[in-house]
Amino acid sequence: MLEFVAKRFVAGQNADQALINVASLYEDSILSTLDVLGENVSSEGDVAQAISEYRNLFEKISNTGFQSSVSIKLTQLGLDLGQEFCQSKLREILEMAAPKNIFVRIDMESSEYTQRTIDIFLSLRSEFPLLGIVLQAYLHRSLKDAQLMASLNAPVRVCKGAYKEPSSVALQNMEDIRSQYKKMVELLLVSGTQVALATHDDELIEWAKSLLKREPLWAQQLEFQMLYGLRRQKAKELARMGYRMRAYVPYGKSWFPYFYRRLRERKENILFVLKGMVQD
Ligand code: FDA
Repeated sequence: MLEFVAKRFVAGQNADQALINVASLYEDSILSTLDVLGENVSSEGDVAQAISEYRNLFEKISNTGFQSSVSIKLTQLGLDLGQEFCQSKLREILEMAAPKNIFVRIDMESSEYTQRTIDIFLSLRSEFPLLGIVLQAYLHRSLKDAQLMASLNAPVRVCKGAYKEPSSVALQNMEDIRSQYKKMVELLLVSGTQVALATHDDELIEWAKSLLKREPLWAQQLEFQMLYGLRRQKAKELARMGYRMRAYVPYGKSWFPYFYRRLRERKENILFVLKGMVQD
């Protein structure tokens, strides 16, 4: 039953199913970043399987012409098995993506992985220009990380942060998080960096629109991003207004941790699930 309701947030069990949804988004002028679901894998075999799925995905993306990128979690590439191991696996992925001109973004996971994720990103960034990273506005450290990325002109997706973190590590108050989010986005834009504004929050979206009104050239650097299954009408509306819009499109069988984060984020998502269960 859960699997049935998870369909709202997950675009399919395999790449072909996900790409049908990517095509439909594209018809609404919404680009996609595809994510093969999976995280915290604990065996080299699981890492090999994830890499093989990304290989399959790159092949299919390059046959579509939808300009899709991909998003990837380092714990899916064995970060728990060792930093060097994970770095070599990410390199394999990037070597497959580069000849096909496919942009790869490293998702950001919980704070125990932040420094290692940034270190791996930095070690590969100069070799692979089509590599980007995510920074989470709720972390106390993120303004500094944004300054570093701005100095390197490294593409950054800014999100609030989806993991439960203690107050020693992360801001807890929504207004403080929004305020740090805005500071990060503005400093990245000022430095000429490519920024993905990942949020469903109207306040941040309206703020970004007013920023682009003030500085129209920043529109070349900024794209809006939302999660598959959420706020499709709003995404469509932004795309229709001429803003670059991208959906994060996850697919695969290991959907539960992703799904669980979506439920924790917003009570309306839980209501949706409960409604689905009752209707069933
Ligand atoms: P939030 O949940 O904070 O809600 C704020 C307000 O926005 C609400 O009160 C409401 O007004 C409005 N709103 C929110 N959702 C709505 C909806 N569905 N319908 C109508 N109104 C809504 N996290 C992470 O830790 N690492 C990562 O790599 C990523 N990657 C990522 C990619 C993309 C494309 C997105 C959109 C998000 C992520 N995230 C993420 C998740 C992110 O950190 C965050 O947890 C969620 O986006 C929720 O925060 P929001 O700012 O979207 O709205």
